[in-house]
Amino acid sequence: MSETDPEGCDGVRMTWNVWPRSKVEASKCVIPLAATLSLLRPHPDIPPTLTYPPLRCRTCSVLLNPFSRVDFAASIWICPFCFNRNHFPPHYSQISPTNLPAELYPHYTTLQYSLPSPNPNPNPTPVFLFLLDTCLISDEFGFLKSALRQAIDLLPDNALVGFVSFGTQVHVHELGFSELNKVYVFRGNREIPKDRVLDQLGLSRRQVFQKGMMNNQPSAAVTRFLLPASDCEYTLNSVLDELQPDQWPVSPGSRPARCTGVALSVAAGLLAACNPGTGARIIALVGGPCTEGPGSIVSKDLSDPVRSHKDLDKDAAPYFKKAVKFYEGLAKQLVSQGHVLDLFASALDQVGVAEMKVAVERTGGLVVLSESFGHSVFKDSFKRVFEDGEQSLGLCFNGTLEINCSKDIKIQGIIGPCTSLEKKGPSVADTVIGEGNTTSWKMCGLDRSTCLTVLFDLSSSDRTNTPTAANPQLYLQFVTSYQSPDGQSVLRVTTVTRRWVDVAVSSELKAEARHCFPFLPPVQWELVQGFDQETAAVVMARLASLKMETEEAFDATRWLDRLLIRLCSKFGDYHKDDPSSFTLNPSFSLFPQFMFNLRRSQFVQVFNNSPDETAYFRMLLNRENISNAAVMIQPSLIAYSFNSLPAPALLDVSSISADRILLLDSYFSVVIFHGMTIAQWRNMGYQNQPEHQAYFRAFIYKAFAHLLQAPHEDAQIIIRERFPVPRLVVCDQHGSQARFLLAKLNPSATYNNAHEMAAGSDVIFTDDVSLQVFFEHLQRLAVQS
Ligand SMILES: *[C@@H]1O[C@H](CO)[C@@H](O)[C@H](O)[C@H]1NC(C)=O
Ligand SMILES: *[C@@H]1O[C@H](CO)[C@@H](O)[C@H](O)[C@H]1NC(C)=O
Ligand SMILES: *[C@@H]1O[C@H](CO)[C@@H](O)[C@H](O)[C@H]1NC(C)=O
Ligand SMILES: *[C@@H]1O[C@H](CO)[C@@H](O)[C@H](O)[C@H]1NC(C)=O
Ligand SMILES: [Zn+2]
Repeated sequence: MSETDPEGCDGVRMTWNVWPRSKVEASKCVIPLAATLSLLRPHPDIPPTLTYPPLRCRTCSVLLNPFSRVDFAASIWICPFCFNRNHFPPHYSQISPTNLPAELYPHYTTLQYSLPSPNPNPNPTPVFLFLLDTCLISDEFGFLKSALRQAIDLLPDNALVGFVSFGTQVHVHELGFSELNKVYVFRGNREIPKDRVLDQLGLSRRQVFQKGMMNNQPSAAVTRFLLPASDCEYTLNSVLDELQPDQWPVSPGSRPARCTGVALSVAAGLLAACNPGTGARIIALVGGPCTEGPGSIVSKDLSDPVRSHKDLDKDAAPYFKKAVKFYEGLAKQLVSQGHVLDLFASALDQVGVAEMKVAVERTGGLVVLSESFGHSVFKDSFKRVFEDGEQSLGLCFNGTLEINCSKDIKIQGIIGPCTSLEKKGPSVADTVIGEGNTTSWKMCGLDRSTCLTVLFDLSSSDRTNTPTAANPQLYLQFVTSYQSPDGQSVLRVTTVTRRWVDVAVSSELKAEARHCFPFLPPVQWELVQGFDQETAAVVMARLASLKMETEEAFDATRWLDRLLIRLCSKFGDYHKDDPSSFTLNPSFSLFPQFMFNLRRSQFVQVFNNSPDETAYFRMLLNRENISNAAVMIQPSLIAYSFNSLPAPALLDVSSISADRILLLDSYFSVVIFHGMTIAQWRNMGYQNQPEHQAYFRAFIYKAFAHLLQAPHEDAQIIIRERFPVPRLVVCDQHGSQARFLLAKLNPSATYNNAHEMAAGSDVIFTDDVSLQVFFEHLQRLAVQS
């Protein structure tokens, strides 16, 4: 594991890299055993794709991997998971210690196989079904149309495109009908079952069969609605030209009737006519709340506000549960069809992301939330979805993840964009967290940044006399099969091993090194070395968010505080009842600050945001890799000044200074903040250095221009790589936008101690405890006997 690339080619990180032997010991570790998987992470060290099928253990079906023991003479491999012996097939007869197949190379712990396509004559893929909200003011409608035109331009020629618009009613546009724009209309005020949708569109099996099309294959008939991008560019553009905002009258004081729920059902119904597992996505562009039919989140009466966190807390959001249930049903249908829902929501008010979250997350869809379809957060993100090459998101389809573990390891579930396939097995835990009750998960959509969190438990059985007890290593195998962007069927397998630790073994180990940490018992010392604090912080954030959503009256702050105190009490070095003696090993020392920032973050302090924003933040927290998720919890701060190179600065209000520029990256926004003096000089135009200045002045002016430019260039690097594109905020000290920075800083200076601060720094007006006070409390509580 290297500092710069902790995930390596396996894309796996764990809270603990050394595992306690028993369930009891594990629970004493406070932070759960968990692994995060960046399933499709590209890496230069992943070997070339193998073109032959993998070998599987005949008893447990684990794939041949470098941890298998091999008896070359007998042509046998022993499975490290179930210890059974497998004969190599005849075509492996040439192997020897000097002629290993790729599967057995020690460093090839991650391998890819390309499989023959399951579908001899697959539809051209992928399918993009655009679903367009028409209850928009004309500016927004214009932005949306131009974004769509650009998207159609970027689509690969073989992609199939469909088009549905909705407002009071749903309109399915028949693109294959070139003479005039033919439209199928569905009423928006009640649920329409899938069969009715297919029937009305002439796509049911019966109708297709009667017309004698393609021996009972509805997938051929669906091409009336889904056309190759190369054939329908003209038609689509003329449909867009003629498309008007929803024409139904809206009385004063009312919201427009918008049937988002029914529109999504109709779109899902249309895709049901495609072959299951076809790479198809519904791209929903939604500009306001659903108010008509199932899935509604608010009434049409404008005096009735959209639900807030307070309403949800007090159970005063009458539409919420019903709407969530509706979108759960939609999620189920889409998952069974193998199709994805992407949500692009743009509005000043909420549109129902909180309710639709379940359908996006369970299908592995993309989500982007912005204020307007004219904002760069929407425009630039939307464009990225269709871009090719370097900038491509690498959108894959029809993914399945299977996990195998050494005996005694149980899987509680997964947090992240997937759905449980409810496939029971010996390694399924009794308690479920997230998507559980299974060893197999569906990801209708996944891409190169998809990251999942697997939570583990240990079986409580005594295993002193089992083969596992004799083996100091544990093994996990993650097998992901999916369809790549170019239509290939790929199987990616990662096999990892970690060490068990128990009292008897560790007391002998490394005794000489232990004098540095005399307070810790031996087992703990080994555990400490294997702790990954960044991963642990992210896993705790994901767990806390899940509990806040699913457990009634869950107090996240107290829960996190208690866990942190227990953790410090167990793994800190101290004399009982002496707070000043307290120290933390370097592998734990950053963790309390992560928890301090998590407590203050948008994930825990939800009342500062709308339920839609919270749902959005959490969906991204759950699907991004550890480094990105860590920045969401604890933003990074870089300082730029005249006399030094750009350098990381403390996430503290004392980092603000009149002659500095700060660059804050909090994932969702990137803030460039000019100190007062810098802002004044800039306003006076010092950077536009006049030619005739004396040498020395010219030099200073040039340096100033450079100083102003540098954070912008660094911000652009971040913005270019990230999806969704973050919001860029450029502001000055004491300006109104400065709150984007101040909200993220440790309030070391508040109005209570402002007199102690140096001139030119800033004061945060808050009663939050500062990091220093938080640490003092923590030390006092951790050493208590
Ligand atoms: C490995 O996974 C397969 C398929 O999910 C399952 O049948 C088998 O029992 C698992 N083996 C172990 C050792 O967990
Ligand atoms: C989708 O994935 C499943 C499970 O891996 C597989 O059986 C099926 O053939 C795949 N379908 C397509 C169209 O790729
Ligand atoms: C897990 O499966 C059991 C039985 O198969 C079922 O009773 C239980 O409700 C399931 N739990 C979840 C969370 O799906
Ligand atoms: C995390 O994802 C970003 C892209 O979203 C990528 O640039 C970065 O390298 C990834 N980090 C790791 C450690 O994989
Ligand atoms: Zn086996």
